[in-house]
Amino acid sequence: TTKSGSSMKEGIALASRFYHHLLMHTEQGREAYEYARHREVSEEALRRFQIGFAPREREALSLLLKNRDFDLREMEQADLLQIPEDGHSPFDRFSNRLIFPIWDQNGKVIAFGGRALDEQSAKYLNTRETPVFKKNEVLYGYHLARAAIRKQNFAVLFEGYMDVVSAWMAGVENGVATLGTSLTSGQANLIQRLSNHVTICYDGDAAGQKAAIKNAETLEENGCQVKIAPMPANKDPDDYIREEGPSAFMTNMIESAQSVISFKMSAYRKEKNLKREGDRQAYIEWVLEELTTVRSPVEREFYLKQLADEFSVSMEALKQEQYRIYQRVR
Ligand code: UTP
Ligand code: MN
Ligand code: MN
Ligand code: MN
Ligand code: MN
Repeated sequence: TTKSGSSMKEGIALASRFYHHLLMHTEQGREAYEYARHREVSEEALRRFQIGFAPREREALSLLLKNRDFDLREMEQADLLQIPEDGHSPFDRFSNRLIFPIWDQNGKVIAFGGRALDEQSAKYLNTRETPVFKKNEVLYGYHLARAAIRKQNFAVLFEGYMDVVSAWMAGVENGVATLGTSLTSGQANLIQRLSNHVTICYDGDAAGQKAAIKNAETLEENGCQVKIAPMPANKDPDDYIREEGPSAFMTNMIESAQSVISFKMSAYRKEKNLKREGDRQAYIEWVLEELTTVRSPVEREFYLKQLADEFSVSMEALKQEQYRIYQRVR
């Protein structure tokens, strides 16, 4: 029934099988298949992630759903179709795109992301909010990664579909994605149920790095311990894996992920010139202030020691300064 969304999910599942079939086995899907293979997505990954192709003809899915007696109004509510007001034929939401099915926690398809095959049109088009799909409650790849997240006792959090797929090919089985840069408490909680350790591996651009810090805070508020991978500025995880290879990705990104405070310290240092006395002073004060948010006394001591060594100041002076700052921020 519509209320539980079960017939809606049946229609979405049919669409998903249809798209996947077109990509894997038809001439129509050939260009998209080649696009995927050009991006080095393996056959095995295409099957695991049930990647598909939405054909150029905008009535194909609509006709299939109609032939199978689905209620087209309901399929419109699922955002599979659009039904024009003027009585023209219903048409498919997606056209000429590589399709990534998005699953609920039980592995039922509830939505799609469609990637343009060229750089002209809107890069990704996603299913809108529907009775069965609330974007900010879903993590892409969650049901596929669940067992590995439990077993390895950490999750890797990416931005995008392609990052999860590429990372899986590189051996990362515990990867999930937020479908963009924002993360809600609900999504943090989905991870926290499986493990309280998360490595954020976001894009190296300014938006990705800013979001990494923000989402680290949300994850921490939900009981997770967070590390952030040091992605180079001009790359995302998928680029990095293809350019540098799987083992470099494991070593330099996943295993080299830093604590949130170190990550922030590196970011701050990139903007300042610590050879200048004023910047040096500002940096030390900023670190001391940031350290007031670090709960572990051992970790605080560790960073204080690092500051003391680097700038040749006594631990005592740093602690006095920190006490002064603590009085102020409190
Ligand atoms: P990115 O812009 O980083 O795209 O968005 P990407 O994943 O690297 O895409 P490729 O490699 O060019 O194919 C990250 C994620 O944000 C969502 C998608 O889920 C995407 O995977 N997104 C991005 C959208 O939903 N719409 C957009 O227009 C862009
Ligand atoms: Mn733990
Ligand atoms: Mn991005
Ligand atoms: Mn990206
Ligand atoms: Mn990318």
